[in-house]
Amino acid sequence: MVSGARDFDLVLWGATGFTGSLVAEYLARTEGCGGKLRWAIAGRNKTRLQTLTRELESLVPGFDAATLPVLEASLDDAASLARLAASTRVLLSTVGPYALFGAPLVRACAEGGTDYCDLTGETQWIHQMIAEVDATARRTGARIVHCCGFDSVPFDMGVWFLQRTLAERGAPPSAVVRGVVRKLRGAFSGGTYASLLNAVEEAAASPRLRRMSGDANSLLPPALVAPRARAELGMGFQGQLGVWTAPFVMATINTKILRRSNALLGFPWGKDFRYEESMSTGRGFSGRARAWLVAGGLGAFMGMAAFGPTRSLLRRLLPAPGEGPDRKARESGFYEIDFLAETGASPRLVATVAASLDPGYASTARMIAECALCLAQDGVATAGGSWTPASCMAEPLLARLLSRAGLRFSVRELA
Ligand SMILES: NC(=O)c1ccc[n+]([C@@H]2O[C@H](COP(=O)([O-])OP(=O)(O)OC[C@H]3O[C@@H](n4cnc5c(N)ncnc54)[C@H](OP(=O)(O)O)[C@@H]3O)[C@@H](O)[C@H]2O)c1
Repeated sequence: MVSGARDFDLVLWGATGFTGSLVAEYLARTEGCGGKLRWAIAGRNKTRLQTLTRELESLVPGFDAATLPVLEASLDDAASLARLAASTRVLLSTVGPYALFGAPLVRACAEGGTDYCDLTGETQWIHQMIAEVDATARRTGARIVHCCGFDSVPFDMGVWFLQRTLAERGAPPSAVVRGVVRKLRGAFSGGTYASLLNAVEEAAASPRLRRMSGDANSLLPPALVAPRARAELGMGFQGQLGVWTAPFVMATINTKILRRSNALLGFPWGKDFRYEESMSTGRGFSGRARAWLVAGGLGAFMGMAAFGPTRSLLRRLLPAPGEGPDRKARESGFYEIDFLAETGASPRLVATVAASLDPGYASTARMIAECALCLAQDGVATAGGSWTPASCMAEPLLARLLSRAGLRFSVRELA
């Protein structure tokens, strides 16, 4: 936890980006400026940041651009990042691809005792950051929390909520939980494609990174020597829900984050806890056909992303950094994810996490803002170190997701 006087409670780094500007708009709407929350926006270009403050003025009634402090820093200037980290209690970063641009700021936050959260889903980079900064963050008290967007907040918190519900009912924890993305409408931004393509490019060049990506245990704390565990691909028939399933693009990160949450919480769900994830493609013959289509499409995309010439073609065809789904698309998006307790209680429990906003941007902007506000305002007592959202701030974060971010959590019994 941050100690000592700081100018700000929260600084948003990367405010000019597609997702960063949505976070800025959300903070302007919910917190205003000059109120209880002392916040600022930051980036590499002051002029662009000032343009953003004027856009916020036109978007948010009553918002006064002159009251929002604007801070400039450069990734090439370590002293400017140290000053940025030292100016605030919580640093929220939307600057990605994180594997390319993220590390200097995480180091500055760990060294400066500044709480930090981001939107990365890049396994290889999280692994590198844990190895580099966990010990420093433990010493300084900085809580470093990756994956505070759609990957992995609804999944991490959904499994935690399911396990907590089992405990409240006096049932043992479920040693295996299966996440099934039942409904989803949304699209990717240029920044997300850039991060995905960069992660595949790095993995294609490194057998070590490919092994790490395929190992569901690769984000367990380094002190725990765990055997490699293959994550299930998710193709098949989900008998309890009666639907066919296909691989879900975010399963590679979510499955690892859930194992890490369990380990950091002290293994409340058992040492052998497994989380598996897939997406529903529907019922019957058409559901089965769609499962093969989705799996084939995902495989073809990953194959194209792995080879230089086809990767360059994808970079030309896909949205560029800074672009993303428009407001209408963001507001008409939605998601609904089931988490099935495969062991532990009879009848089986299913927790559902849902929202009526597009997952990657409108909902993500709210989720990461609420993670940062939770660290800044809720007296979270977790010690310094590298955390996951659920292991760091489960209870107060759940309250915020329910009351402010528009997420719905519910539970039902399967016959
Ligand atoms: N987990 C999730 O659910 C989720 C959801 C959304 C996004 N994301 C991730 O969030 C990241 C951002 O996505 P996006 O679509 O918002 O990207 P974007 O629109 O391209 O924005 C990137 C931001 O990074 C800044 N930036 C780039 N290079 C920089 C550098 N060298 N120094 C300082 N700042 C730099 C840009 O500043 P300028 O404006 O000055 O160029 C911009 O503010 C990506 O990694 C994406 O994968 C994750």
